[in-house]
Amino acid sequence: MTTIPVALGARSYEVAIAAGALDEAGTRLAAYAPRGRLIVVTDETVAAAWLPAFAAALDAAAIAHLPIVLPPGEASKSWAVLETLVDRLLDLGVERSDHVVALGGGVIGDLVGFACSIVKRGCGFVQVPTTLLAQVDSSVGGKTAINTRAGKNLVGSFHQPAHVLIDPLVLETLPPRELAAGYAEVVKYGLIDDALFFDWLEANGGALLAGDIRLRAHAIAHSVAAKARIVAADERETAGVRALLNLGHTFGHALEAETGFSNRLLHGEAVACGMALAFRFSAERGLCDPADAERVARHLAAAGLPTTMAAAGVEAGGDVLVAHMAHDKKRTGGRLPFLLARGIGGTFVASDVDLGDVVAFLDAERAACPTA
Ligand code: NAD
Ligand code: GLY
Repeated sequence: MTTIPVALGARSYEVAIAAGALDEAGTRLAAYAPRGRLIVVTDETVAAAWLPAFAAALDAAAIAHLPIVLPPGEASKSWAVLETLVDRLLDLGVERSDHVVALGGGVIGDLVGFACSIVKRGCGFVQVPTTLLAQVDSSVGGKTAINTRAGKNLVGSFHQPAHVLIDPLVLETLPPRELAAGYAEVVKYGLIDDALFFDWLEANGGALLAGDIRLRAHAIAHSVAAKARIVAADERETAGVRALLNLGHTFGHALEAETGFSNRLLHGEAVACGMALAFRFSAERGLCDPADAERVARHLAAAGLPTTMAAAGVEAGGDVLVAHMAHDKKRTGGRLPFLLARGIGGTFVASDVDLGDVVAFLDAERAACPTA
């Protein structure tokens, strides 16, 4: 078992990672079930694959479990499903001292975290993430949200979990496309400030994606440690540190918006393409060696991820994409911060980017690699 602390004073918690951890969930989560029961929120897909094993582990520790099973997919991060969830939690008599379990991917984690931040003015929750994306990113750090008419993740809160329990074995049932999308977020940590980790991923990424459990556990622990460091330094994204986690997200957000935040382009796929674009844009501005940009794109493409707008299925021109970016919540004070790179492991926040340059860059990208 690898245990990684997230140091946030009174809101500190641990992330525990071990192959087989799900089977020990009863003993590992007993401290969060003082009334001898746990409400477990999950989605239908995860329920079919993993709820029986999770429930059996709670049974073995004599912890009663009350499941709430929601529809899978991004559409569940909505006012309507939030209302359903909050009503169900209240019907089950949730108390502030309870810890609700979020068993699922980033959708369940974000939704349950938000519900727990408002129900009874805030109750506890525990993350048991079941996608690679959720294991290396969304389950740690306390960002919670739902989507609204105005856009994605625009209503939410910072509400830290009390504990995160990660079992890499649950990834066995994850579709390869979802696995690759989560892998983009793993690569992100190498690109932000850890060139040695990127080297390691180049050497081991193929075997990791093919199913090597030891490599998966190592990459998850390394990623969680990176995220924990960043969150501890800048919990509310006000000090310019946590913003580094948005590498690839400004370009990626525009691609997601253009594809309707749908299965046409998964979040991690958009981030992968966004990171490749951010590196090529950095190279074009003379900030980074073009060879680094090529290396990044080669590694992401080898993982089956899109690295051009054409591969992401986006035909829009630069002006349309920049308009999507300007609509993004990460805009502050009328300016759009961009995450650019001086090389692999050398990401920084640039606030002096001329949006006209971005439009021209994206138009040139489109011309260089037209959609079929
Ligand atoms: P998801 O939760 O929709 O999961 C993807 C799909 O995989 C779903 O259909 C789900 O049912 C299925 N699934 C989950 N675990 C499975 C398993 N073990 N086996 C088989 N199927 C499984 O998507 P995601 O990629 O995990 O998360 C995306 C969400 O995370 C987005 O809403 C995004 O905004 C959010 N996010 C939040 C943060 C944060 O810091 N809070 C960070 C990144 C992303
Ligand atoms: N995934 C971005 C963050 O947690 O800040």
